[in-house]
Amino acid sequence: MSEKKKGFWREAIRVTKENDPAARTALEVLLTYPGVKALAAHRLSHFLWRHHFKLLARMHSQFWRFWTQIEIHPGAQIDYGVFIDHGSGLVIGETAVVEHDVKLYHGVTLGGTGKDKGKRHPTVRHGALISAHAQLLGPIEVGANAKVGASAVVVSDVPERVTVVGIPARVVRVDGKKDIKKITTLEERREASYHSSHHPSDQ
Ligand SMILES: CC(C)(COP(=O)(O)OP(=O)(O)OC[C@H]1O[C@@H](n2cnc3c(N)ncnc32)[C@H](O)[C@@H]1OP(=O)(O)O)[C@@H](O)C(=O)NCCC(=O)NCCS
Repeated sequence: MSEKKKGFWREAIRVTKENDPAARTALEVLLTYPGVKALAAHRLSHFLWRHHFKLLARMHSQFWRFWTQIEIHPGAQIDYGVFIDHGSGLVIGETAVVEHDVKLYHGVTLGGTGKDKGKRHPTVRHGALISAHAQLLGPIEVGANAKVGASAVVVSDVPERVTVVGIPARVVRVDGKKDIKKITTLEERREASYHSSHHPSDQ
């Protein structure tokens, strides 16, 4: 998690202005962006959750789900400086971790597969872009500055600085380039790691 020198509100304004050319003033960001409201509310829900007021935390997060259409479980760990654009239908699960400068669009799920216990939701490292309606499932890690294409379904780790698209999501760019050799190597590694964690008896 990043250092918190600047504070939640200043980071929220910074990241919104950096990512949305439509954001004109700080006041407009604070008053009209559902993502800013949902993340601000999550700070209180998370505080209540950590201090064992779990039912109150769940009720508080559900109240803000009603107003913002963004559902963040109070247990999720979310850094300052996360950007949520539009946000409707966004779901973030209990054990998800989201680092600073991550961009999340509407319809994204940081969810579980239903098969894992304990840490069962994704970790999204700093600067990653998770496009509209992408579904990230399980305790996977999306590396720093990676991009996940719209409507992709991601069930295995995504290395840093790559682009993945499709169902199931595959690497299509490395550092923005279509370097077939690097892409093939990364895909072979991803497949081996997926199989060793999901089907260990096949090894
Ligand atoms: C993935 C994305 C971030 C682009 O990343 P990029 O690294 O610049 O990748 P490119 O645009 O060069 O595309 C790489 C390849 O993936 C394909 N591709 C891009 N997005 C895709 C998607 N969502 N689904 C399937 N294929 C996709 C491209 O056609 C290209 O194919 P090629 O290798 O055959 O040429 C972008 O296309 C995307 O999905 N943006 C959506 C952002 C969003 O949610 N906006 C909502 C605003 S309201």
